[in-house]
Amino acid sequence: MNLKIALLPGDGIGPEVLDQAVKCLQAVEETFHHTFIYKEAAVGAIAIDRSGNPLPEDTLNLCKEADAVLFGAIGDPKYDNDPTAKVRPEQGLLKLRKELGLFANIRPVKVFPTLLANSPLKTEIISGTDFIIYRELTGGIYFGEKKLNEEGTIASDLCEYSEKEISRIAHLAFKASKNRSKKLTLVDKANVLESSRLWRKVVSKISESYPEVELDYLFVDNAAMQIILNPRQFDVILTENMFGDIISDEGSVIGGSIGLLASASVGEKNALFEPIHGSYPQAKGKNIANPIASILSAAMLLEHFGLFEEAMSVREAVDKSLKKGIVTPDLNAKSQYGTHQVGDYIADNIVDEEDDLNMNDENIGLGKSTII
Ligand code: IPM
Ligand code: MG
Repeated sequence: MNLKIALLPGDGIGPEVLDQAVKCLQAVEETFHHTFIYKEAAVGAIAIDRSGNPLPEDTLNLCKEADAVLFGAIGDPKYDNDPTAKVRPEQGLLKLRKELGLFANIRPVKVFPTLLANSPLKTEIISGTDFIIYRELTGGIYFGEKKLNEEGTIASDLCEYSEKEISRIAHLAFKASKNRSKKLTLVDKANVLESSRLWRKVVSKISESYPEVELDYLFVDNAAMQIILNPRQFDVILTENMFGDIISDEGSVIGGSIGLLASASVGEKNALFEPIHGSYPQAKGKNIANPIASILSAAMLLEHFGLFEEAMSVREAVDKSLKKGIVTPDLNAKSQYGTHQVGDYIADNIVDEEDDLNMNDENIGLGKSTII
C-alpha cells in the first residue's frame, strides 16, 4: 500500500517520540513491502517561534493532502503560565482538529499484564481492564463562543452541541460496541446541563437501531469514580469533548503510565494519530520519554487503513519490549534504556508472523542490534 503521511512533531518530547514511531513504520514498510512517504511540518510553540502562527497554512495544507497525520505533542510552559498570551500552541492542534473535521477521538485503555504492578491501583481492580473512549472532538465547550468583559473580570465559554454532532460520533461508538462486548456507556451531566440532556435524547434514539448493544448512562462525576473503583465494568464509553479529555487522562493512570496510551482522531476525510500525553517539556532531549504511546498511535494508523497484520506485528513488538524489560524509566526507574533504545528494539522486532520469529533475538545475541 502507498500512503502519504504528514509528520507533525510539535513541541517538547514530540519530535523524539515521533521519531520512534516513524522507525517502526519504516520497519513495517520493509517487512510487509509497503511504501509510505513522510513529509514533516511545524505546529505548536515551535511554529509560533518561527512564524507567529501555531498552525501555519503550509502545515494545514500538507495535512489536508496527506492520507494520515502522525502527531507528536504540543505545548510549552512559557505559554501555560501567561494567561494574557494571545497565541497559544494548543490553538494549533484545536484548529487542526476542526479544519480536518476530526470529530471522533478514539482512546483505548487497556492494561498490559506485564505492567500490572506499575499502576498505583491494586492489581485485582485493574487486571483485565479493556475499554475504549469515544470522545467528541470538534464541538462543545472547546469550540463554543468565548467571552471576556472589558474589565477582564467576567469570562464565559459556551458549551453547545447539535443533534448532528452527537449522532455522527454516537453511530461510530455503537458500531465499535457491536464488535466488542456490546455495552455502551454514555457519560454526561444530564442532571445539570441542557447539552447533556440533548446527548441522552439523541443517543437513546440511536440505540434503537442497535438492539444488540446495551446502553447505560453515567453522570461524569460518578464515572470518574467508577473508572478507578471498577474499570472492568466499561467497554465503550461515549462522551462529549471536555468530559472525554478529563476521563481519558484518568484512564491512563490504570495502565501505570500515560506514556502508553495512543489515540486516533477521525473524520469523514482525514485521520490523525497521536499519543494522549502532552509535551512533557522537563524530559525534552533527555532520552527518557516513553515512545510506546506514539508507536501504538502508528499501529492505530495501520489499522485505520486495514493493515491489521502489520499493526499486530507492531503491537507484538511492543509487548515483547515490555516483557523483556526494554522500557524507559517511567516504567522502571532503574532502566538503562532510553527513548531511542526502546524505539530501536521495537522496530527491530517488527516481523512478519511467517518469518523466523527467533531471528531478531539471535541478532541481539550476536550484538547486531542497534541497541547494543
Ligand atoms: C488532549 C489534550 C488537548 C485537549 C490539549 C493539548 C489542547 O489535552 O488531546 O487530550 O485538551 O484536547
Ligand atoms: Mg487531554
